[in-house]
Amino acid sequence: MSGVLKLERRIIVISTAFVLTLFALAALALNLFHVGLPTCLADIKPFQKGELIAHSPTHYELHYVARMWEFDPENVTVPAGSTVDIYVSARDVAHGLILLGTNLNLMVIPGVVNYARVKLDKPGTYQLLCHEYCGIGHDRMTTNLRVVDMATFQAQQAAPTQTQPTDPIYRLLEAKDCLTCHSINGEESIGPTLKGVYGRTVKLNNGSTLVADDVYIRESIVNPTTKLVAGFDDVMPKPELTEEEINAIVEYLETLK
Ligand code: CUA
Repeated sequence: MSGVLKLERRIIVISTAFVLTLFALAALALNLFHVGLPTCLADIKPFQKGELIAHSPTHYELHYVARMWEFDPENVTVPAGSTVDIYVSARDVAHGLILLGTNLNLMVIPGVVNYARVKLDKPGTYQLLCHEYCGIGHDRMTTNLRVVDMATFQAQQAAPTQTQPTDPIYRLLEAKDCLTCHSINGEESIGPTLKGVYGRTVKLNNGSTLVADDVYIRESIVNPTTKLVAGFDDVMPKPELTEEEINAIVEYLETLK
């Protein structure tokens, strides 16, 4: 019996030493020989933000970034007769991109930028869909690509653009991906809406109810799994936030009537 224990102990010691040696060698390679670690793809330009670039009034470059569960940018408008070069990349898992009514059909793979050119002559609203199962919000991963006649397009370009909410906490919620699942306008999505959350009577999935106070809101940010709202799935990751950011968000949510 003790012979087996001795052997087990020896194996544990040797394997631990082996793992530590590997770590030490990796650290050495990093410092001594400047062997770089691969950069996180999510920090590189094509994987960060989508954009529409106009090359001429009828030639556009449209960069989509796909992620669970949306395409960025949303609701793009181009004039009829445009040639659109579409580039698409994914920030997280494999998605798909199909533009209904055209023959545009691409796989969207993390770490890869896929490309296709499409000519859009007929005005209308084309639905852009993810056609690769990518998780619980897959069926909602859709946006529109609108094609309008040139005169309408030019009139729209000339009109003043809508102002975006500029509140720094709103920006923070956006940057931390909170708004992907929580709306601030009362619409229920993958997660409950944040509008009027403070003071709301919340029904939990264990059957109990509570009134959302600052303690509950804080807990739901820090430990999303602890008290799940009935009807919603346990899919929220723990966000990376500093203590100050959490305080600011709790305060902000209390003002969202
Ligand atoms: Cu993204 Cu399905």
